[in-house]
Amino acid sequence: MTAREWPFWMSPVSYWQPAHFPETAWAGHAPFAFWLMDVLGPRSIAELGSHNGFSTFVFAEAAKRLELGTNIDAVDSWEGDEHIGFYGDEVYGRVAEIAARDYPDSVRLRRGYFADVRSEIADASVDLLHIDGRHFYDDVLEDVTMWRSSVRDGGVILFHDIAVTERGFGVWRVWEELSAQHPSFSFAHSYGLGVLAVGEVSDPRLRALFDADDETADRIRGDYERLGQAVTDRVLLEPVPAQLAALVDSESWRLTRPLRVVWQSLKRKRS
Ligand SMILES: C[S@@+](CC[C@H](N)C(=O)[O-])C[C@H]1O[C@@H](n2cnc3c(N)ncnc32)[C@H](O)[C@@H]1O
Repeated sequence: MTAREWPFWMSPVSYWQPAHFPETAWAGHAPFAFWLMDVLGPRSIAELGSHNGFSTFVFAEAAKRLELGTNIDAVDSWEGDEHIGFYGDEVYGRVAEIAARDYPDSVRLRRGYFADVRSEIADASVDLLHIDGRHFYDDVLEDVTMWRSSVRDGGVILFHDIAVTERGFGVWRVWEELSAQHPSFSFAHSYGLGVLAVGEVSDPRLRALFDADDETADRIRGDYERLGQAVTDRVLLEPVPAQLAALVDSESWRLTRPLRVVWQSLKRKRS
């Protein structure tokens, strides 16, 4: 059997699956995130917006499996915002439980506002910055302006939701401005992901990504959209066991029990 020849933008890592599947709009970017972790090998990640922890745990899972020793600062007020809605303390509780159990050496949850936490992260110390907080133009611009200096030369900034133009979302506009000035690559699936180079990127595969011609870029987008769809489907299926559990506990399930007993005994007689 001949080994598969991988195009530069993929490797077996692109096929890895996340270990956790909480509700998220980010699911389709997990395969690319795994690949990016492999080629960038970040020692330090700062994430602005963790919510249920999906993206945080994708980075953490990759760091664990690749043995990168990455430190991940996940920053969030864990109170929600106008776009995703406001939520209760139980969300932080669930994320903290998984982080402490599965990623105690890598994930550090910093509960607070992005602007307040910025001074706790040294300048030029971050290899990968992920911006996924509030999505109005002014907010994203403020986040990137304030946090840009935390990223070292050769690092990468990810922007989620660059493909959303409704509901006052303005990430796309910030993205249009920045991607015109720096090496970049963009995906349109799963609400869009922008990948922006900070300074000189050393890895040849990353450089090739930023330099991809239109035809290659289309193939890259097609491959990661296809791989991402499988993860999105898995996230959508995740609530099913919880719904089934609720059904089994429900009054109607209890009331229809005699019918199920009769049905089972009829089936046994027929077999
Ligand atoms: C879209 S969610 C993050 C989604 C997450 N990356 C994922 O993988 O599903 C945005 C989060 O940013 C948080 N947030 C928004 N603005 C913030 C701010 N200025 N400071 C701290 N947290 C903020 C919200 O609480 C929310 O949990």
